[in-house]
Amino acid sequence: MTTRWSRKDLLGLRELSADEINLVLDTADAFKQVGTREIKKVPALRGKTLVNFFVEPSTRTRISFELAAVRLSADVINISAATSSLSKGETLKDTAKILEANHEHPTQGLLDTYTIREKKKRIEGLHVAIIGDILFSRVARSNIFALKKLGARVTLVGPSTLLPRDFEKLGVTISYNIDEVLPTADVVNLLRIQHERQRKEYFPGIGEYIKLFGLTKERAKLLKPDCLIMHPGPINRGVEIDSELADGNQSVILDQVTNGLAVRMAVLYLCGGIAA
Ligand code: CP
Repeated sequence: MTTRWSRKDLLGLRELSADEINLVLDTADAFKQVGTREIKKVPALRGKTLVNFFVEPSTRTRISFELAAVRLSADVINISAATSSLSKGETLKDTAKILEANHEHPTQGLLDTYTIREKKKRIEGLHVAIIGDILFSRVARSNIFALKKLGARVTLVGPSTLLPRDFEKLGVTISYNIDEVLPTADVVNLLRIQHERQRKEYFPGIGEYIKLFGLTKERAKLLKPDCLIMHPGPINRGVEIDSELADGNQSVILDQVTNGLAVRMAVLYLCGGIAA
């Protein structure tokens, strides 16, 4: 059966079916191929304009969306909250509502899922551990929705203050003991502490956090040799993950960045109306 795409937006992955997620990943496969050609551009969105509007600071996502649009031959306009009227106190009610209601990072969830599928050749049956600041993470939510729909087992790990029991409602397992989870994980996805979203202290200190939840070299010995190490970035080296592990042979962190381009090309292409 051919999956049809009829969406003009992608606010989150919660509402996507497994077929729709697979369609994005398969479309991204095709666009990744385009990136290996001498001429890396296709005319798919010629005549269209992409307006990038970023409310929060971003490096990877902003550059990736911009390059994705350029590779699809679209025109691009970038607006950021810091340089727009938002910085003068003007509110964008609808934007705020959308952010609050969805609180997801859908393209990050898709590119993480794509990277896992590329490396492991499947998602179904894998055990994925998402470790760190879950409460304030948009990445965690989008990963949970995509991975669960494609049949993975997801365990969330973090300090109890940053990992409320409520997350169990999403069909995941919750653990406050990283050492018990690492030995059975096929993938570990480390998340940074999102201080910018926190209005109080959620744990005693960075040293305590590293001791209890950091992926240190000693702790990494618990991992299976083929366990993938992921991080959406930006990385706080030496906090949620040891710097050498972030650059080591189990790390697919740079693949995530590369795959982000193909996945965002796929999302823009599908939502741009060409395939609808
Ligand atoms: N992973 C991610 O969203 O990174 P940026 O904040 O740099 O966009």
